Amino acid sequence: MKVFSGSSNKPLAGKIAHLLNTKLSPLEIFIFPDGERRITIEERVVDEDVVIVQTTSPDPDTSYMELFFLVDAAKRSGAKNITAVVPYLGYQRQDHVFRDGEAVSLEVIIKTLESTGMDRLITLDLHSIKIPELFKIPILHLSALPIFAKKIRSSALGWSDRKTDQQENRNQKTDNREPITDCILISPDMGGIRRIKILSELLGNMPFAAVVKDRDLSSGDIVSNKFDENGFRKGIKKAMIVDDMISTGKTISAACDLLIENGVEEILVFATHPVFSNDAKNILQNCRANKIYVTDTIKIPEKSKFSKLEVLSVAEEIYKNLKI
Ligand code: R5P
Repeated sequence: MKVFSGSSNKPLAGKIAHLLNTKLSPLEIFIFPDGERRITIEERVVDEDVVIVQTTSPDPDTSYMELFFLVDAAKRSGAKNITAVVPYLGYQRQDHVFRDGEAVSLEVIIKTLESTGMDRLITLDLHSIKIPELFKIPILHLSALPIFAKKIRSSALGWSDRKTDQQENRNQKTDNREPITDCILISPDMGGIRRIKILSELLGNMPFAAVVKDRDLSSGDIVSNKFDENGFRKGIKKAMIVDDMISTGKTISAACDLLIENGVEEILVFATHPVFSNDAKNILQNCRANKIYVTDTIKIPEKSKFSKLEVLSVAEEIYKNLKI
């Protein structure tokens, strides 16, 4: 198997290649003075299974162009089978028309991806469960939720004194131990309710609730001032907010404020994709959460890191599914 990486997330691609017991295959990305890119793969791929790792944030447009050209180069060079690993699929939030006159950008991206000739695509934690249905090629939709469940089990938020390593191994998928009742899982918006239910099951039916969030589509301003009717039980002191992505950080910050107003004292945040746009670093560092866990589906530049942040790797999850 040959593994190539675009320029957006080489550390993750390198980890995946290492787990596959290989190295990243060489390629050249030449940038012309006008900004156009020329991609050349520099290893023979005739009749080989080829994996191309390229996430699409930051700079989604350039990242997608690199990905299209990489797949085309591998195809023209005789690859037997091409798997594109796109840990974060950019434009996924533009999956339908929100306001008259808009393009459905995700549909355009999907059509273009399919036209390059890739055989399948692997991605993680898509914003909507319906997105895989838009693809005609096979798509493997993985999730960071098992990684978060493992972290929650071993975190200081109520789990460490309830488990042994043996239990940890026995309960990889669904946890049948005594449910945690002094913590709650929180989705910061109603769209994340399915995600939170899955995580609750992984954690032995841990209680959960969702925040009712309204966002002004023009300004991006957020109002999060109540919980859904299933609700949040007063008296809960510890909460874990779970989301698919953090962009500006406003959703997380607003959910934290609501939890603190309702008596919560400790908050952990788990989000798969650290998109981290605009002032996210300051908003997140100054929000009321104690710790923020994200994954390496997107490479975080040093200047965007902050002390509350911890990055968990999805390399193993991707590797397990590439082996099959
Ligand atoms: C929205 O529905 C998503 O699940 C995230 O909550 C959202 O994209 C986060 O955006 P931001 O960090 O800008 O509030």
